[in-house]
Amino acid sequence: MTGRELWYIAQAHASNHLSGDGDFTRKCHAWLEARTGAHKALLTHSCTAALEMGALLANIQPGDEVIMPSYTFVSTANAFVMRGGVPVFVDIRPDTLNIDETLIEAAVTTRTKAIVPVHYAGVACEMDVIMDIAKRHRLLVIEDAAQGILSTYKDRPLGSIGHLGAYSFHETKNIIAGEGGALLINDEGFADRAEIIREKGTNRNHYFRGHVDKYTWVDVGSSYLTGEVVAAFLWAQMEEAEAITEKRLAIWKHYHEALQPLEVSGVLRRPIIPEDCRHNAHMYYILLESFEKRTEMIHHLKERAVNTVFHYVPLHTSPAGSRHGRVFGSMYNTDTISDRLLRLPMWVGMDGQMVNRIVDLIENFGMKIQHFTQQVNIPENAGNASS
Ligand SMILES: Cc1ncc(COP(=O)(O)O)c(C=O)c1O
Repeated sequence: MTGRELWYIAQAHASNHLSGDGDFTRKCHAWLEARTGAHKALLTHSCTAALEMGALLANIQPGDEVIMPSYTFVSTANAFVMRGGVPVFVDIRPDTLNIDETLIEAAVTTRTKAIVPVHYAGVACEMDVIMDIAKRHRLLVIEDAAQGILSTYKDRPLGSIGHLGAYSFHETKNIIAGEGGALLINDEGFADRAEIIREKGTNRNHYFRGHVDKYTWVDVGSSYLTGEVVAAFLWAQMEEAEAITEKRLAIWKHYHEALQPLEVSGVLRRPIIPEDCRHNAHMYYILLESFEKRTEMIHHLKERAVNTVFHYVPLHTSPAGSRHGRVFGSMYNTDTISDRLLRLPMWVGMDGQMVNRIVDLIENFGMKIQHFTQQVNIPENAGNASS
């Protein structure tokens, strides 16, 4: 909470407009459009909803292929599978853990409709290469920028580079609304239909603008918009978004500097941020040497009251992922990195002392690692995070 959330919710209540697209929603739209340069921003009730809108706008038909990483949250794939689409999973880069752009073109077939790059941890995918492939093969690019608010690639905001972009304001993200999201429409051609799809397939917005004298059902659609209570909460967060990001960046940098000696001594690997990317400190993760070492580390920290989590179980290894999707090429980086990644605590209220304590505990683990290997037997799913 930044301070004004409840005050704005009270204002929304007093305005007698609690359904969608009231004053607070309009403020959030304007903020997003100003920050990203998107032609239009539309609040949705989640990033999942924004991705589902993306799949509808892309006109995904049964059998259409959508290229994406397997190392991502289920919604990246689910949104397209719901339209009958087939996720084609491509391996990730070992440095950023983002889709390996050099593998994408070979995965394109006559059925390919779209590419969905996921900006992992708010660090950009190699978008110039991806947009070039998309242009040459006439594909749509729908950025899963769930974690990417206020991050940039070559000074361009994430979510604003593809034809469409999706943000998450889930409570695990930097800027939150409990559950919430937004669709950025960068290609103007999608704007009108996006409003219709978001409003249950009706031309309600044409009616409110006075273009028609009654509104009616004109297309497929669903109810993807947020109510004003959620938008009011989110507006309080947006007002502080830059300050929140600065605080997170300070914590991120503190971890990064303090963990450098442990990288040098081979205990772990730190995140790698390409020069062209400005990130938003969404996450601080470390890579351990192996699955076993990670399990021991989780246990070591948990015993000392530090809760750490990992993700993702690669989608191609999940029951639904193997049923609905297919793998293109080797998944070596995806499989091995997902076994070794550990997310460290990261939230705006952390101070330097907390970070130092966690770093000390990790260092301590580095020294005691042999001892632990002999003594600890931990369940395989300890610490699994859902998003
Ligand atoms: C990469 C990615 N895509 C999509 C989502 C879904 O976001 P939401 O919970 O807002 O639907 C998440 C959520 O964690 C995510 O990390």
